[in-house]
Amino acid sequence: MRLIIQPDYDKLSKWAASYIASKINSNVSEKPFVLGLPTGSSPLGTYKELIKLYQQKKVSFNNVVTFNMDEYIGIPQNHPQSYYTFMWDNFFNHIDIVKDNVNILDGNAPDKTIECEQYEQKIASYDGIDLFMGGIGPDGHIAFNEPGSSLLSRTRVKSLTRDTILANSRFFDNDPEKVPGTALTVGVATVMDAKEVLIIVNGHNKARALQHAIEEGVNHMWTISALQMHPKGIIVCDEAACEELKVSTYRYFKDIERDIIL
Ligand code: GLP
Repeated sequence: MRLIIQPDYDKLSKWAASYIASKINSNVSEKPFVLGLPTGSSPLGTYKELIKLYQQKKVSFNNVVTFNMDEYIGIPQNHPQSYYTFMWDNFFNHIDIVKDNVNILDGNAPDKTIECEQYEQKIASYDGIDLFMGGIGPDGHIAFNEPGSSLLSRTRVKSLTRDTILANSRFFDNDPEKVPGTALTVGVATVMDAKEVLIIVNGHNKARALQHAIEEGVNHMWTISALQMHPKGIIVCDEAACEELKVSTYRYFKDIERDIIL
């Protein structure tokens, strides 16, 4: 696993956006580039930078297919806090993506099991995801794969933990009662099946999760730790997120990444 330590959130976001753009641009085949995407505050800076790169004509999303990680159950698609609204407001409306190439789980699908199975089948129909970008929760969850989720899990319905409901209540008038209690989410294995995985970790409230991801063993209580088993896993983080790492771990990754630009 690579750990790219950037001085602050701005630089982290620029690094992640350049990396994604370079991967999209390296796809010279007719086949679309398949990108997995997260919501949350962590990727917002990366989306802004990707929009800038698009405006500067340094990248095009015309031949990109996207699959989002997750979606709440039980709020309308046009709800201001649905992940559908988040993605269109913060990213898709500002780039040249083809609408039919955007895939987001439908939290209002009449049969959630069929919705999840079809999502997996659709990913497979594109020969898998080329690059899955993600964030993590303070408890190390990836997508909505809360602590205790199987590391072999696939797309399914998940109940959100009290911690996640409290953390996400900031988007729902600080009222935990307004946060949906369940969501549809890709599984840990769905993310790990991607050819590459890029995880954004910023801020000191993610420091414990980063420490578990990097220094502790693979463990279903910190689902991000599954990244240790991925052949091409990258975490890009800021200094604040490194607070719980050993000095030696910090120096080690700084040293081996010292001359690498992307
Ligand atoms: C939610 C999402 C995750 C996201 C996490 C952290 O739980 N399902 O995909 O990584 O929040 O969000 P933030 O980046 O806002 O800290």
